[in-house]
Amino acid sequence: MTVRAALAEGTGALEGSCPGSPFLDAALLLSSSMGMERDRLLASMPDEVPPGPLERYRALLSRRRSGVSVAYILGYKEFYGRRYAVDPRVLVPRPDTEILVETALALLPPAGGIPSRRVRCHDAFTGSGCVGITIAAERPDVEVSLSDASPDALAVCAANARAVLGRDLELGIGDVLSAAAWPLDLVVANPPYVSTVLTDEIEAAGGSEPRSALDGGELGLDLYPALARQAFALLAEGGALVAEIGEEQGRAVKAIFEDAGFVGVEIRADLAGADRVVSGSKHAVRR
Ligand SMILES: C[S@@+](CC[C@H](N)C(=O)[O-])C[C@H]1O[C@@H](n2cnc3c(N)ncnc32)[C@H](O)[C@@H]1O
Repeated sequence: MTVRAALAEGTGALEGSCPGSPFLDAALLLSSSMGMERDRLLASMPDEVPPGPLERYRALLSRRRSGVSVAYILGYKEFYGRRYAVDPRVLVPRPDTEILVETALALLPPAGGIPSRRVRCHDAFTGSGCVGITIAAERPDVEVSLSDASPDALAVCAANARAVLGRDLELGIGDVLSAAAWPLDLVVANPPYVSTVLTDEIEAAGGSEPRSALDGGELGLDLYPALARQAFALLAEGGALVAEIGEEQGRAVKAIFEDAGFVGVEIRADLAGADRVVSGSKHAVRR
């Protein structure tokens, strides 16, 4: 069977049963089975798929059809141009979360911007570590710490820090920001913000991401008040908090930030135009 025919078979098998992009999923699974990059695979349409890789590919397709995400099947997900190991202990990084990282990078003081010490950033709810590790990779001058309530997630995060950065980052276990230390210049957070009802639906549909990474309570907003209060206490003067939100949560989270004392609170949309990130400053508004 040729690559072209195998991709057509896989796309047909996934259509209707798996949300997302069946062709892209099939191409990722076939390139993994054949041990070649996706670009090379797509340039090899007339080539034959050997029997071993074809058998592996069909086994992967059937896992995908049973609802397992491509990222969990492959064991990694690309985020901000880097590869992060993922498994069912952590949320699969979403492309929308790159907006959170971009906003965070824009809010960080420049290198050497704090005369008496290094600039400090904490990534709360770190999961795979994709947010904090990306910031550490983009801004090696910044001291980055990360935390999560799940020891399982932190094990994945620690391995990702070593693989992506070639070094360990300071990791803490604890509720919300209890593992973070004053003074911080930036707190970045992607808390669980899916409503409990929607989380139940995702689970019933076969979703295999950890419930603790999704369920944010009745309206999905349960963790934002503690995040905003604790971040305000931990930030230095002029520091900032930036958090990812669900598309209908912009106004509510803006109000929560303002109640906690943040000023210059702004909502930023993702590429689809949906509200995705809220940021605010402690006293001095920095742009
Ligand atoms: C939405 S995931 C974010 C993962 C990663 N930062 C990302 O953007 O892909 C939320 C993470 O928060 C953690 N978590 C849930 N409740 C928590 C709490 N009360 N305190 C600290 N972490 C919590 C979960 O274990 C999960 O790893």
